[in-house]
Amino acid sequence: MPGLVIVGSQWGDEGKGKVVDLIAEQADAVIRFQGGNNAGHTIVRDGEVFKFHLVPSGILYPGKVCAIGNGVVVDPQVLTEELDALRRRGLDIGGLKVSANAHLIMPYHLLLDHAGEAKLGEQKIGTTRRGIGPCYADKAARLGIRVQDLLDEKILKQKITAAMEPKRLSLRPFAKDPMIDLHAMTEQYRTFGARLEPHIADTAPIAWRLLEQDRLVVFEGAQGAMLDIDHGTYPFVTSSNPVAGAACVGAGVGPTDIDHVWGIAKAYATRVGAGPFPTELEDELGDQIRAAGGEFGTTTGRARRTGWLDLVALRYATRVNGLTGLVVTKLDVLTGIEELKVATRYTAPDEASFEEFPYHQSVLHKARGEYDSLPGWDEDITGARALEDLPTNARAYLDYISDYLAIPIVMVGVGPGREEIIWTGAAELLSPAAADLTSP
Ligand code: IMP
Repeated sequence: MPGLVIVGSQWGDEGKGKVVDLIAEQADAVIRFQGGNNAGHTIVRDGEVFKFHLVPSGILYPGKVCAIGNGVVVDPQVLTEELDALRRRGLDIGGLKVSANAHLIMPYHLLLDHAGEAKLGEQKIGTTRRGIGPCYADKAARLGIRVQDLLDEKILKQKITAAMEPKRLSLRPFAKDPMIDLHAMTEQYRTFGARLEPHIADTAPIAWRLLEQDRLVVFEGAQGAMLDIDHGTYPFVTSSNPVAGAACVGAGVGPTDIDHVWGIAKAYATRVGAGPFPTELEDELGDQIRAAGGEFGTTTGRARRTGWLDLVALRYATRVNGLTGLVVTKLDVLTGIEELKVATRYTAPDEASFEEFPYHQSVLHKARGEYDSLPGWDEDITGARALEDLPTNARAYLDYISDYLAIPIVMVGVGPGREEIIWTGAAELLSPAAADLTSP
């Protein structure tokens, strides 16, 4: 130990990439445990912008173990392209490991994701169309193709044949699509296998060994609690479990290996795709926050829906994740807004008011936030490196969140750059091995 899990605690896009990148510098390994290339992490390093979809954020540190765990779904085309791009920029990718047990996104998963959304029409989920749902469905149906299958042509062909058989009807419109020709597909995936072979590994024992040696292992989540297939706003969710408990399953460690769970939340809220969003701002202020926060998807480029900070949902996320600390990102985006609102209750259509996150879909879909107001600030806060550097109202905003959730705020993001961060000192809650994290 220590094992530190970092998860999104809203609807994804909370800025996990930057936080994991900062902590990765001190860590011995970073392991992604769920999701796939539906995620997108942007890291700004020395003015250079890096965008990742699959590769864990720690890859920018030479030789660091960066693992894609068994719980991730891997599109090998995307992964090989990402690795090529990193190589072209002269980065050492020797530390990248891919679990042999991770499942592969196949060309027919992409087609089925598109077709499924088209069929839903108005009711569509707004998926990233990266084949995530169909791939996890095949995993559960025991028809998945795993990374290890890339290394054996006979097995690969047999498994693709078995996986496509029950989909014959739904794939019929694509019968002539060369993407799903058995031989061409096998050939293409064998080529991916050859390219990925040096990185394919049994990733769980890597984590065990480091944890036994008391080294810092970061488990990196994708998406966020409200997109969790069990605990999120189903069916408007992703097909995996972004909550912290999934770190164990998706990386192959036990609950007792986890010492700390940090949730990442923006100082406001955003959501991509359809589904309930009780604090949504569909007005000029929403547009202003979208522009100031650059709220356009890393993966799809879609404009994100924006809204006030939702403390009802965030307290729920705190509970389901067992958060021990909160990282508040993008506080600077709120600069210049005179009156800030935070939702502390919801109102249902029948005027009932409640403070717990509702489990019932028909209540949640119509719930609207009830707000407390807090005064804003005008001062530029991007230069703040300690809580004391922040205007009184910005500190009061953070204190309000921390008091409401009853957990400490461990870091605060005040700008997109790597150095634009406040380490609050609560990061010392980590074990002594990681106490250095408190110094930038
Ligand atoms: P899927 O994960 O592509 O199946 O999409 C399901 C839902 O999750 C859609 O609403 C997506 O917009 C959302 N989603 C998936 N990945 C992300 C992410 O990384 N950030 C934000 N939303 C996401």
